[in-house]
Amino acid sequence: MSRDDKRIQAVKELIENLFPVLRNAEVFKGLIDVLVEDIRSRCPGVEVIVGLDSRGFLFGPMVAVALGVAFVPVRKKGKLPGETFAVEYTLEYGTDRCEVQKNSIQAGQKVVIVDDLLATGGTMDAACRLMEAAGAEVLSCLVIIEIPVLKGRDKIKYPIISYIS
Ligand code: PRP
Ligand code: MG
Repeated sequence: MSRDDKRIQAVKELIENLFPVLRNAEVFKGLIDVLVEDIRSRCPGVEVIVGLDSRGFLFGPMVAVALGVAFVPVRKKGKLPGETFAVEYTLEYGTDRCEVQKNSIQAGQKVVIVDDLLATGGTMDAACRLMEAAGAEVLSCLVIIEIPVLKGRDKIKYPIISYIS
């Protein structure tokens, strides 16, 4: 493991600190309210919230319900039934693949992609490429935490909403 890999791993473990937030209903609701408010004001016309496997599933569906729009999961390889779009992406070790069901998003639909963390940006970039394959219009990529030193932002050509750097 290189020094950079160790740093990425350490920060990803720190993100586990998001979990205590989920244990306090009032604080958790406060977080969801903030995300919903920001998506309403910054992403008008959003039709689909796309959540990334797996930690994007912790709050993405709640945001979608509060906005009254669809929730669509992007899953890691081999988890989704039926026909899928798939893209490969680079991890600390080797590559992985993520997928979305072909019938889950209509061409031209306006989507916001949500995840907990933007680190190297590999995961979010893969999700953006998946949305392009599906013909969706990415309005924004939302993460709770971003690690600026890893320059994940440079990989993303869509507006990014993040809260903690
Ligand atoms: C973590 C995190 C982000 C991703 C960010 O997910 O939840 O999705 O890493 O890293 P990147 O910007 O370098 O791609 P992970 O793949 O560890 O799995 P999990 O969400 O299933 O816990
Ligand atoms: Mg993840």
